[in-house]
Amino acid sequence: MFDSIQFDALAAEATAAAANAPDDAALRAVEREWLDKKAGRLSAILGRIPSLPPEERRGFGAAANGVKQALEAAIAARAAALEELRFAAALRDSSFDPTLPAARPALGSLHPLTLVQRELEDIFTSMGYHVLEGPEVELDEYNFQKLNIPADHPARDATDTFYTRTNAGHPPLVLRTHTSPVQVRAMERLKPPFRAIAPGRVFRSESTDATHEHTFHQMEGLVVGEDVTVAELVGTMKSFLRAVFRVDDLEVRLRPGFFPFVEPGFELDARCPFCTAGCRVCKGTRWIELCPCGMVHPSVLRAGGIDPERWRGFAFGLGLSRLVMLRYQIDDLRHLLGGDLRFLETFA
Ligand code: DAH
Repeated sequence: MFDSIQFDALAAEATAAAANAPDDAALRAVEREWLDKKAGRLSAILGRIPSLPPEERRGFGAAANGVKQALEAAIAARAAALEELRFAAALRDSSFDPTLPAARPALGSLHPLTLVQRELEDIFTSMGYHVLEGPEVELDEYNFQKLNIPADHPARDATDTFYTRTNAGHPPLVLRTHTSPVQVRAMERLKPPFRAIAPGRVFRSESTDATHEHTFHQMEGLVVGEDVTVAELVGTMKSFLRAVFRVDDLEVRLRPGFFPFVEPGFELDARCPFCTAGCRVCKGTRWIELCPCGMVHPSVLRAGGIDPERWRGFAFGLGLSRLVMLRYQIDDLRHLLGGDLRFLETFA
């Protein structure tokens, strides 16, 4: 009985059928012919096992399974080979050239605000300044009170501040209207003497035009020391403006300015570094208004836990957005945060 089946010949026949199948349909037909659970040729052979003498069953079953495994391997190999043939044919028939370099992913670029901010950070860290960050959602206390801006001060007018609703018992919060609150946070953190800048986003509730946006960028500067003077403030401003505008010398002037957190307070103007006849930047005045600044008010030092009898400070509030506009001759503030790729791509 056992001998009446030539298992080797069967395996040869089955694997040859698989290997020669011209396509997937033919391969599936081979699979059905041999391996179908009910009607397949191997099922018929295995079905004979119960009628065999017990001592033959084991060897018979093993031999039949050997055929099955050989065939399954042959089917898998043929299926893979057919797949490759199909792929090669598709390549031949298409214009796809696998030897060409792949398309490059589109690269973004740094935002002009980031470019100028990093440059300022480099200039100021080289002069020994820390770079600090403060919260954009700020306690009313830090945005106003500790900066000597009491509850009835016009700078707190609801038309230019975003107040947030807070839970009963929670101290009032605002979207910070300037980076100056970081001054007080810096005083609380750092031991004098120190120098620090704090670049970041600020928010004001105002109607939008070419020079006003609800969101823009500032950079605060604060220096606290025992013998800090207005002369040092002016010198610092001059050296950083020379670096920003890449000029050897830059004339600056101070005009009186009022800010509750400095005394005296100034507006610092610089000689227009772009000036040509009929200059659009300075509108022919030859001066550009650059940076409000002043000597830190004693009550602000006190609010930051610093003894005004021993320490003095100067502070400045740079319009980072405005500096970016000057630097790249951008005529509308709204471009900066408008998210228009055609604008942003020009900085790549
Ligand atoms: N925080 C002021 C503003 O946003 C600007 C300012 C003025 C900052 C004088 C200062 C300063 O540090 O000394 O209008």
